[in-house]
Formats: sequence, structure tokens, C-alpha cells
Amino acid sequence: MITCDNGVFLLKTDAFSALFRVSPHGQLEHLHFGAPVEASDAAALACKPGLGWGGAIAYDESNGTCLDVLPWEWSGAGRGDFRESPICLEEGPTDFCYAAHRIHRGIVPMTTGLPQARGEAETLEITLRQTDGLELTLYWTLFGGVLTRRAVLKNGTAAPVHVTKLMSFCLDLPGCFTMTTLDGGWIAEAHRHDTPVGPARVVNESVTGFSSNRHNPGFLLWEDAGEDHGRVYGFNLVWSGNHYSAAQQSLQGLTRVMGGVSPDHFRRTLQPGECLETPEAVLAWSDKGFNGLSRQMHDFVNGHIVPPAWQYRERPIVFNSWEGCGFDFTQNRLVELARQAAGLGCELFVLDDGWFGRRKDDRAGLGDYWVNKKKLPEGLAGLAEKIRAQGLEFGLWFEPEAVNPDSDLYRAHPDWTLTDGLPPLLGRHELLLDLTKPEVRDYIVENVSAVLDSAPISYVKWDMNRHSVALGAKAYDYILGLYEVLGRIFGPRPEILLESCSSGGNRFDLGMLCFGPQIWCSDDTDPIERLDIQGGLSYLYPQSTFGAHVSAAPHAQTLRTTPLSTRGNVSFFGCLGYELDLKNLLPVEEVEIRNQTEFYKANRLCLQFGRFSRQSAADGTVWQVSREGKHIAGVFHRLQHAAPGYEGLRMTGLKPGARYRVTSRLQKLRVGQFGGLVSHISPIPINPNGLLLRTADRRYGMEDGQEQFTASGAALLSGVMLQPRFTGTGYDKTLRLQGDFSAYLYTAEEETP
Ligand code: DGJ
Repeated sequence: MITCDNGVFLLKTDAFSALFRVSPHGQLEHLHFGAPVEASDAAALACKPGLGWGGAIAYDESNGTCLDVLPWEWSGAGRGDFRESPICLEEGPTDFCYAAHRIHRGIVPMTTGLPQARGEAETLEITLRQTDGLELTLYWTLFGGVLTRRAVLKNGTAAPVHVTKLMSFCLDLPGCFTMTTLDGGWIAEAHRHDTPVGPARVVNESVTGFSSNRHNPGFLLWEDAGEDHGRVYGFNLVWSGNHYSAAQQSLQGLTRVMGGVSPDHFRRTLQPGECLETPEAVLAWSDKGFNGLSRQMHDFVNGHIVPPAWQYRERPIVFNSWEGCGFDFTQNRLVELARQAAGLGCELFVLDDGWFGRRKDDRAGLGDYWVNKKKLPEGLAGLAEKIRAQGLEFGLWFEPEAVNPDSDLYRAHPDWTLTDGLPPLLGRHELLLDLTKPEVRDYIVENVSAVLDSAPISYVKWDMNRHSVALGAKAYDYILGLYEVLGRIFGPRPEILLESCSSGGNRFDLGMLCFGPQIWCSDDTDPIERLDIQGGLSYLYPQSTFGAHVSAAPHAQTLRTTPLSTRGNVSFFGCLGYELDLKNLLPVEEVEIRNQTEFYKANRLCLQFGRFSRQSAADGTVWQVSREGKHIAGVFHRLQHAAPGYEGLRMTGLKPGARYRVTSRLQKLRVGQFGGLVSHISPIPINPNGLLLRTADRRYGMEDGQEQFTASGAALLSGVMLQPRFTGTGYDKTLRLQGDFSAYLYTAEEETP
């Protein structure tokens, strides 16, 4: 609900409210963002500067008003508020004052091609003006659990105006916060970092040209909070390019926070009458800790960001050719892989990189869309037909934004790449195409569309494998160009499942999610690394957006050997897939994978769309998803210690008075893992390197931590005790065999009375 009463604006849902008012001089004074309050609380919630602070610049000498010490919903520059300004014009100071407002049912559509949240909503539009005719329109759109904000600057003067910074939002929150950011790099994306916000500015920024794996645009601000308690603010941007957000505390204890497109190399000239529109920022608040905040963000992404055709729609189990084959495949090998993948329960076969041009490795061919007939003599249509004959859907990889210098495209159009006047610098042997050029966008749209229409392709992986060094002032328009291309290709093809990717999670953001409902989180598929990566992303993004595949062990990047059951258990908390050479699987591993895909299919809605929560346990991590009376908890451990103590499992979201049946997922450990220890339980001595153990290892698994019990919701909420862990004193199938990197999954289902 949005109301305006005597210059006081209240935006309120069951989850939170935002309150601000037009100040006596016309600026928008921030009053509150947090628990649901009333408009009549305005006076009580307002900051009281009293007789003011020494050294301040008086905006109004007659009554001592000073902009620097009050909280604002937007702030100008050069009028005495010395805190960071959300707007910079080369022409000089800005001071926007209230002119008019409107309340709209629904969203107010963007006009310059930026993606935005959709669905049921209410929007407040406030127009502010300067005396010179510059006009700033601010939008607040209320969706159940979140608020979005954006700004549009219109040049109503008679001369050009040069903008070097225009944030999507700015506000001043009373309090002393910690900022949580998701940072990293290739194969180490989205690790959580906490930084206290004090008088020195804390900045979360990307200048690589893209939202980046270095610093995800989403972040949190919180005071005294944990997973399930405390007040937490969440922020994100519907934007895939350079971004900037900052928080800084003032002497008066107000934390100014803002976010938007990075001002780095940003300069737009607005001719008279022209507008500049910012991407939409997402703001949320919860007093139920990080999990409460995450749930609001998750519902928003699932319900208002991902394309309508994919909202709450089950995602198939993918088999992807990349980690198993790389560039080295033939049609026969792919069809054989598809046959095996279908037998294991996969539902969609993705042919990754290497199917086009002279692409024998990553040095050539990018940009050329002709099918490599040496590898695929029957073309994509022939291959797709054979894959579909195995009972699998067919999906295809593209990297349309880039070009190898060794390609027909580059030889024909060397001027189509992004350049900054200096000798070009390659990243993964490629250059970026200049998507600000209409002819480049047309080339991509026409060629990708033609490929998509040439065969039954129901999934696309849209990759992009480099940072930019040449985007500079073109960074903003490049992303607009990308959005145009994505809209033109996938708008008319809503049934194609689009998974975006950028060397993994180098562009994991809400902008890309507006076009495709899932993103490849990371090239790092080691499940223990994924606990940090998926765990980090889970603060702001739902598990339905995570491409999460099981790959081979030892892992290609960490050399870590993990149980196949753990690899499955972690990938279940995302969109499950497999990405390894199936011909090397042992029979015992095939059985485990079949069990995994069966389990996933039976619980898919809960795993992909259930309410997600995190808990940190004494020696591990617990993730839980809940949907329609079913609760699935994953208990993940890192290193094993001798003589581990009792371990409890505390679940959340259950009905205390109901009775639940709890079952562990059936999983088996390789016999070979026990080496010579097998002799302890075998009637005959066993050579750990001998044929007998090797043969047994291929075929037999040892049941690991099997249990089933019933308990009341009250007991599960308070914490039940799990079966003991291996301590070297014997074995039975209920024992959790543990070892390093073990993981167990427990399903609690309400019993019907
Ligand atoms: C990077 C992606 O993250 C990988 O999954 C794979 O698609 C390769 N590119 C292919 O070149």
C-alpha cells in the first residue's frame, strides 16, 4: 500500500515500510525504512538536529536548516551536504525539490531497454525539479517483500548537460552497520565477506565491464544479526555491468548507502529534452535475520525477475559435455554419452563449446556459427535427432559476445571489436564484439536465431569468458546492447531455457536473470568449494537460479577427492546436472547417480523452489528447503576429527504439534575407500592393492548413515540427535561413515494422522 498524506509518503507491506516526507524546503527527508509503521509516526521517527552542529553550512540561515546533518531519500551536491552525492553533473551543484507525485497501480515501464521486475506491484513516482529546469523523477515500486527504486534525469534546460554519476537510489539509515559482500574471482565466486561500516567509506564496486565475479552487485547491511535473528537490509541491482555501491557513517550516526551504475568512465551527455534512466535497485528489510531477508529476496527473484515462462517451473536434470569432453568429441561420442546420461536419469543433453567453426581449442573459431562438420557430420539437426531418440532434450552452448582473432568473423570485420586505441589485449584468446554497434547486434541476433531455428534446441548456455579492458565510456551502452540482443533472440522463444554463464559466475546478477532463469554459478564444481559459492549466493539469490553440477573426483581445480554422495547432496540445492566422462564410471557409481536423479525428481519442487535456510553448525553447514509439509536438510562436513561428539539436527519451519517421519537419503560409500581397513571386518585378509578389493570396489557400496525415525515438530525444531559417526570401533549401516567431506540428507515429512 502506498499513501501520501500532507507531504508524508508511506509505502507499507506486511514485511516492512518506508516513510519519508517533503521537507519545508522541498527535499525528500528520509524518516524510516524497516518494520511496518504508520504515517502518524513521522514526527516521532524524524531526526532532531536541535540547535545544529558547529561548522555546518546553513541552507536556510533564518532557521538554521543544514542539509549535512539530516537523513535524505536523495541528496544533491554542493548545497552543504558534504556526504557522498548520488548524482554528479559537470555543470555544477544539484538541488532537486519536490514538484509533483503520482501513485500507479503496477510497475511503470522503463523506456530505454533496461530489464526490470514485473508482476503485481504499486509504484510511487515523485518528480523533483531544479530552478534551471533539470528534472529528476524517482520511482519506488512495492512488491510484497521488496521495494525497488530507480531514477530518471531529464534535461529540461536549453543547453546540454553532462552526467558523470547517477545512482539508482540513496538513503540515510540511522545505525552502525556491517556490510556483507560476495566477492572472489574465477572458480572462487561469491565468498561472503563482512566489513564494518564506519566513518571511512566502504565500497562494493565492479569496473571490469560486467557485474563480475570479483564483487557481486548484491550486498547486505546489518546490526547484531545472525541467520535467524536480527535486522538485516538487503540491496541488489537489476543490472549486469559496472556497478558501485557505498556505505559510510556520518558523525550524526547516519549511514548513507547508495547503489547504481559505477561512475568509473561514466559520462553521458543529455541534450535538451533527453533523459537518462538508471537500472532498478532492489531493497529489502527483515527482522528475522539473514534467512528472513534471503526469503524475501528469493520470492522476489522467483516471482518477479525470472522470465514468466519459467517462474516456478521445474528445471530438467542436465548432462553437459564440457568437463567430460572439452573440445574433443565426435557425433558418435556425444550420442553414446547421451545414451548413458539418459540411463542415469538425466533429462537434457547440453553440447558445450567446440561445435562450430575451426574450434579445436579456445584459440580459434569464436564468432563463426557454421557447424563443424568434421565433428558433427549430420549437423546440429542430425545430432539433436539422435540425442532426442535417447529420450533427452537437446541444448547448445554459445559465446556470442566474443570473437577469436583467428576466426572468419574477425578476418571479415576486424573493426567490429571493442578497442580503446591501444593495442588490443586478449582474454582467453578472445576480444569482445562491440555491442554498441547495430550491425554487430544484428549479426549476433540473426546468426544465433538461425542456429536455434535449425534444430530442436530447448536450452541455451550463453557464455562470456573475459573481462573488458576496452569498454571504457562504452560500458553502459554495451550492456544495453546485450539486453537488446537477448530480448530479440529469446523474447520470441520463451520456451527455451536460457542459462547464462560467464566463466562461471562472472555475471551472476538480476539483469541476466530477467532473460534466463538460471546461471552457471562457477566453473568450480568441487562440492566443498560450492558450499561457499552457493552458500554465498544464497543470501540474495534462490537455489532455482543455481546451475549446480556433479563432476569427477579428484576435482580438476582443487585435486580434492570427495564422495560422489556429497557431490550430489550439494548439487541438489540448485538445478542439478552432471558434467563428467561417463565412460569412466564404475557400476557402483552408476547406482549412486541413479539414486540421486530419482531422489531429485521425487523432491524437485521442494529442492528448486522450497523455502531455503542456512544454519551454521558446530562442525559443518546445514541447508534446509521446505515446501508443502516436506522439509529436506543437508548436513555438510568439511574435515573429519577423531572421536567426534554427538551431532544434533535442528530443523526450521515445522509445526511443533505435528508428527514427522524423518528418512535419510539412501547413499553408499565406495568399499575401496577403506583400503586395508576392510580386513577388520572380512573373514580373510585383504590386500588393499589387490584384485579382490579392486573388483569389490567397482560393484559394492557400503550403506552410509541409514536412518528412519519419527519425531514431533517440536523435537525437530529443538534439535534431534543423529546416528553416531565412525570412530574406528566397528561398522553397521546406520553409522555415519564420515571421513572428510561427508554430507547427509534428511527428509522430514508430516505424517497424516
Ligand atoms: C566457461 C564456462 O564456465 C564453462 O562451463 C564452459 O562452458 C567453457 N567456458 C567452455 O569454453
